[in-house]
Amino acid sequence: MRLDEVSVRFPIARRRSVSAVDGVSLEVVQGQTLGLIGESGSGKSTLARAMLGLVPTSAGSVTWEGVAVATMSRQQRREFAGQVQMVFQDPHSALDPRRRVWQSVREPLDVLRRGHRRDRDEAARQALQDVGLPTHLHDRYPHQLSGGQKQRVNIARALVTRPRLLVCDESVAALDVALQAEILNLLCDLKDEYRLTVVFISHDLSVVGHIADRVAVMYLGKLVEVAVASDLLEKPRHPYTEALLSARLDIHRAPGAERIILRGDVPSPLAPPPGCRFHPRCMHAVAACATEQPVLMPVDAGASACLRAADLYPADNTGPSVIRGAR
Ligand SMILES: Nc1ncnc2c1ncn2[C@@H]1O[C@H](COP(=O)(O)OP(=O)(O)O)[C@@H](O)[C@H]1O
Ligand SMILES: [Mg+2]
Repeated sequence: MRLDEVSVRFPIARRRSVSAVDGVSLEVVQGQTLGLIGESGSGKSTLARAMLGLVPTSAGSVTWEGVAVATMSRQQRREFAGQVQMVFQDPHSALDPRRRVWQSVREPLDVLRRGHRRDRDEAARQALQDVGLPTHLHDRYPHQLSGGQKQRVNIARALVTRPRLLVCDESVAALDVALQAEILNLLCDLKDEYRLTVVFISHDLSVVGHIADRVAVMYLGKLVEVAVASDLLEKPRHPYTEALLSARLDIHRAPGAERIILRGDVPSPLAPPPGCRFHPRCMHAVAACATEQPVLMPVDAGASACLRAADLYPADNTGPSVIRGAR
C-alpha cells in the first residue's frame, strides 16, 4: 500500500475544519510490519481509516496494488474490503452483544457474500481456532468472555476474510501487560501463518519497537520520522522521537542519559503552530523553526522532518545510505 501526500480534514462548525492528517507519504512494504506511533491526537487512527477507505481523503491518494482506493469500482471496493482489515482498540465495543462470537466472526463474510453459508460457518470456526480460542467458547456471547478472549475474537473477525493487510489500531492498549504480550505474540505468529502485511499503531514506543520492521512517527497530523525500528530505538533522528524515547521508563534509558521532558500539551490541530508543528515543545528549536516547514528528508536508512537534522543527527558514514521505503 502506498500513501501519497494524504490529507484528511474534518469539517466542523462555521466553515472551519480540523486538519487531522496533513500530507502523509508512506509506503507499507509488503510482508513487513510498519509501526505507527505518536501521542494521542496525532492523527494515527484517522490515517488508518484513510488507508482502509473509511474516511475520504481531502488531498492525496491511497494506492492498493496500483489502484487508487478513491477511484475503485464497486466490485474493486468489495475485494479491497476483504483484503484490508482492521482490529480496533476496544475489545468490548467491536462485538455485537446479542450474537454468539462465531456468528460475529462470520459476519464480514456475510457482508461480502462470500461462498456458501456452510463454508462461511467453517471459515469462522477455523479463524477462531487460529487465534487460539478453545472450541467450547465459540458459541458463547461476548459478555461471557474475558477481555483477552474478546480481543482474540476481534482478530479472528479481521482474519476471516483472509486479508493481506491487517491494521491494528491500539489493539493491545486496553489489556493488562501480561495479556498484551500474549496478544502481541499471537499477532506475530498469525503474521507468518496468514502471510500478512501489518500496520501496528500504538502510542507506546516499547510495544511498537519490538514487533515492527519499520516505524513511522506522527506528530499533529504529519510524519516527523520514518526509520528501521532498531535504528529508531538506538538513534532517533527527530527531536520528537528523542523525547518519546526519553519519556519511557528509566530502565530503558542509557546510564547518564538525560531525561527530556516534553514541554506543554499537544497543540490543537485546529490551529497548528506555524513552521515546524513541534517547535513550541522542541528542546532544539531555533528561530527558523517557527517559520519554515520542514519536509521529510532522507537520513541514513530512514527520513526525518527536522530543519536541524543534518547538524543534530550527522549521518553514519558506515556505507551507502539505503532508503527503504522512506520517501
Ligand atoms: N470525526 C472527527 N471529527 C472531527 N475531528 C476529528 C474526528 N476524528 C478525529 N478528529 C480529530 O483529529 C485529530 C486526530 O485524531 P486521531 O486520528 O483519533 O488521533 P490518534 O489516533 O493519533 O489519537 C484529533 O485532534 C481529533 O480530535
Ligand atoms: Mg487513535
